[in-house]
Amino acid sequence: MDNYFNGKEVHRTLFLDPSLFEREQQQVFAASWCYLGHESLVPETGDFFTGEIAGQPLAMVRQKNGEIVVLHNRCPHKGVKVLAEPQGNVGRFIRCPYHAWTFKTDGQLLSIPVKKEYDDCDLSSCAAHKGMQPVTAVENYRGFVFVRLKEHGVGFDEFFGDALSTLDNMVLRSPQGQLRAIGQPLLHRHRCNWKMVVDNQTDTCHPMVAHESSAGEAIRLWKETGHDGPPPMAVELFSPFMASYEFFSAMGIRTWPNGHGHTGVSNSIHKAYSSIPGYWELMVESYGETQAAAILDDTRHNTVYFPNLMVKGPIQTLRVIRPISASETVVESWIFELVGAPSQLLERTVQYNNLINSPCSMVAHDDVEMYERAMDGLRSQANDWVNVARLFEPGETHGQTQVVSGTSERAMRNFYNTWQQLMQAPDGSTAHG
Ligand code: FES
Ligand SMILES: [Fe+2]
Repeated sequence: MDNYFNGKEVHRTLFLDPSLFEREQQQVFAASWCYLGHESLVPETGDFFTGEIAGQPLAMVRQKNGEIVVLHNRCPHKGVKVLAEPQGNVGRFIRCPYHAWTFKTDGQLLSIPVKKEYDDCDLSSCAAHKGMQPVTAVENYRGFVFVRLKEHGVGFDEFFGDALSTLDNMVLRSPQGQLRAIGQPLLHRHRCNWKMVVDNQTDTCHPMVAHESSAGEAIRLWKETGHDGPPPMAVELFSPFMASYEFFSAMGIRTWPNGHGHTGVSNSIHKAYSSIPGYWELMVESYGETQAAAILDDTRHNTVYFPNLMVKGPIQTLRVIRPISASETVVESWIFELVGAPSQLLERTVQYNNLINSPCSMVAHDDVEMYERAMDGLRSQANDWVNVARLFEPGETHGQTQVVSGTSERAMRNFYNTWQQLMQAPDGSTAHG
């Protein structure tokens, strides 16, 4: 079957079929610009950070000249994954733990023990001579490192276009225009297909329903206390989850070409947080009043970067939705410090991540329960299709930027449209548009 998305519905096999999963690793993930990590994770020469894209092990390594090189994390000798830890420092060179072949920090082969025993084999004719191979398509955008594993394909700027404005805004929220990733991410394993989690990021018609028993209950309990003053931070963070359909509709959704989009164009669940003393003054000092106001007024909610990155600028969190198999996903939730901003901002970010994204969160479990029930329900042969038709417009296309009602499922349709184009492309590298 080749038609998985008919404009208003997606076929259930998208979420269930292991063979589709294998294909999408190549056609979707290897052909797209995927986020690997933030440069603040590797501040010093020799620092490395490891990750995986399209099922392939990678490592980004800070070079002496300050650049970041992304290497395929595979020894050219017997294929051992050379850097096993999530983060660390390689020292002066990279050394494989199996037979001690060593490599420069940019992956070039440096030495082999008893090298003379290779004298007669013309090692330079072997793939091993190339060392640990670098990924050629790498972009460090304002500290966010992206890679495209396929050597040829869509350019970075063409792929993201105006969608980069969300990352711009998150960076500019620092009075010094700089972010720092804090700690390791919270990891939350879901028994569901990764696309269900992406789909949920622009689903504004579920919070007031699915989160009623968690966020709704927290708000109710606070009201019962009879306190008049400002609510505690946790209640302030939970409250918008119970906003009305009208609220979410009015906040708007913007979609960009190539499957990217965001909720919260003119308003969002992050808009009404209480102000942090001293922050505004620092922002005005750095940017002037007009620009500072424009930066802080842009409170977009969830930005989905196709295929699997979600960014929340106003609360400085980022989630990587990592596919493990057709029915298993790990969500990595990262937090960022706005360099030069008051520490209470980071405190709010930490609290948000713990309350909403953590495996111990009250809220995340509501969503996970729905994903896992959908994985169960979709095994039914009664109906092959999943509906994403809310506020569908006849003749709808996805090659342009558009702002629509916040309760539209257009952002999901935009995502599935790009997914399908890539899956149908002969080599997955030419279908963006
Ligand atoms: S596998 Fe790496 S040196 Fe042998
Ligand atoms: Fe949710």
